[in-house]
Amino acid sequence: MLERSDLAENALAALHDEAYDRAFDRRDLTAQGMIFIGGRKAQSLDGDWNFCVDLLDTGLRQKWFAMQPGDPADRIEPWDYDPHMGETVPVPSNWQMLQDRWYFFEGGSWYTRPLDIEPDPDGRLFLRIGAASYDCKVFLNGEYLGNHLGASTPFFVELTDHVREGRNWLMLFVDNRRRPDRLPMQNTDWFNYGGIYREVSLYRTPRTVIRDLFVTLAPGRYDLIRAEIEVEGATEAHLRIDGLVDRTIPLTDGRAVIEIPAEPHLWSTDDPHLYDVELTAGPDRVTDRVGFRQIERRGTEILLNGSPIWLRGIAVHEDDEKLGKLTNHADLTRRFDHAKALNSNFMRLAHYPHHEDASRMADERGILIWAEIPVYWAIDFANPATQADARNQLAELVRRDRNRASVVIWSVGNENPDTDARLDFMSDLAALARRMDPTRLIAAACLINHNTLKIEDRLAEHLDIIGINEYYGWYDEDFDDLEKIGRNSDPDRPVVISETGADADITPQGPKTGLFSEAYQAEIYRKQIATLSKLDYVKGMSPWILYDFRTERRQGIFQRGWNRKGLIAADKTTRKQAFGILADFYARRAEGKA
Ligand code: GCU
Repeated sequence: MLERSDLAENALAALHDEAYDRAFDRRDLTAQGMIFIGGRKAQSLDGDWNFCVDLLDTGLRQKWFAMQPGDPADRIEPWDYDPHMGETVPVPSNWQMLQDRWYFFEGGSWYTRPLDIEPDPDGRLFLRIGAASYDCKVFLNGEYLGNHLGASTPFFVELTDHVREGRNWLMLFVDNRRRPDRLPMQNTDWFNYGGIYREVSLYRTPRTVIRDLFVTLAPGRYDLIRAEIEVEGATEAHLRIDGLVDRTIPLTDGRAVIEIPAEPHLWSTDDPHLYDVELTAGPDRVTDRVGFRQIERRGTEILLNGSPIWLRGIAVHEDDEKLGKLTNHADLTRRFDHAKALNSNFMRLAHYPHHEDASRMADERGILIWAEIPVYWAIDFANPATQADARNQLAELVRRDRNRASVVIWSVGNENPDTDARLDFMSDLAALARRMDPTRLIAAACLINHNTLKIEDRLAEHLDIIGINEYYGWYDEDFDDLEKIGRNSDPDRPVVISETGADADITPQGPKTGLFSEAYQAEIYRKQIATLSKLDYVKGMSPWILYDFRTERRQGIFQRGWNRKGLIAADKTTRKQAFGILADFYARRAEGKA
């Protein structure tokens, strides 16, 4: 303990001060601080960082972030942790995957690394953290720069006026504790991975900074490109889109929304055509690769470029036996290869924003994406702070991915109780998504009304697509009810079965027959497909789930810490019978024979 140290000032006060963390909960690193990074040169800060778990926030109480580097032999007072030395971990990583003693650790952890900076009086310096679960507090040379909430969206800290020439010390305090006011809150069916688990980068920009660029077809048009631009420090920008647009655009208060006549070659699942896009503003320059397409709904039809489409999908988590929540090119390539083997054209990225490379790969592969924020189960819907957190995570997801043609659906939640507070909370999110992006469909994964055996949810009128999670044959034992629901329901907009499925433990411990057997899972897929195929208003499905995944809440003899509803086992290689059943159905559906 740092006694008598000017660092902890009055150490006893620090021990008795339970309001120690209020000064560090500014929640000021939000979507508003984002800059557009396409085409920018990133300086990677990935690699080994000093690391220490801190279950009781001792580092905040004792102010470890203010400790200067020094030789232990020269120190004149004892210390509980020296952030400038000791154990290291690789960034990005989840601490649970690194040491058995950290597997179930949920709390705060300190990440520290040096930052050697060359001064650039004419430029600006931004730190980007791809994702840190859940609350990330940023310190530079002992100065607190703010914190970000949210486990799956990127955020930025401008370092320009805080760095000094030469050696700096960057410290991140990352806390993945489950709390009732977070998204998700403390009860989830996926593993609560913690840590900095996506890339950390530095971006140098000129004084003029392109904050945002959103290019798309104008809603309902095939002959008009709509560009939304936000630049700091310029009065005009220049937009080039290969062979389509070469236009100087005046900015008012740094912003412009402009529609430019142009007829692009359309992006589609069969022909995922992408254009090179460049935006310059003064000395700043960004680029992107963008596909142009329309996604609309008309009645109960989903239309891609004006033609009805049926979403042959599969749900996926970000989860890996060895990597935890990390993904990489090989992992994503395998995911999309498996989707192709399923004859899929659609993927539900459950239940939170996945790595941005997932929708980039979907753009290249022609796979439609349902993207989602983790408004999951019983969120604290009446809490304004939770609402602000949800709105920010949605804004960060939309700003990050709205140039991705593959992303056709923004989902505002999953399996939430139909209460007044939830209706207010989620209809507000749906309205925000539409304001930020009028070019995509809004959905949520809803529940069937088991009292009336109907598809009815008060949120539906705020959605373009009604997602339905139903597990007839598994949780809902009377399969005939699914037939009744089909007959009883008459939705006026498309329904996508956003989840259905069953566990199958195909390890040697698994059963050969009955619940949790491969045969039982296969039979449920056969019956689900036979029933759902008859419902005209069902325009797609994303069965639960492509791979078995970790979850703390499932410790039965056939689950053992895993949800085993995967069509492929946790090794992401061994396919179960149901994989072939779904692939055959999708092949027939693609040929118009199912
Ligand atoms: C729910 C939930 C999933 C969960 C699944 C299951 O529908 O949305 O997150 O994993 O059921 O019970 O396997």
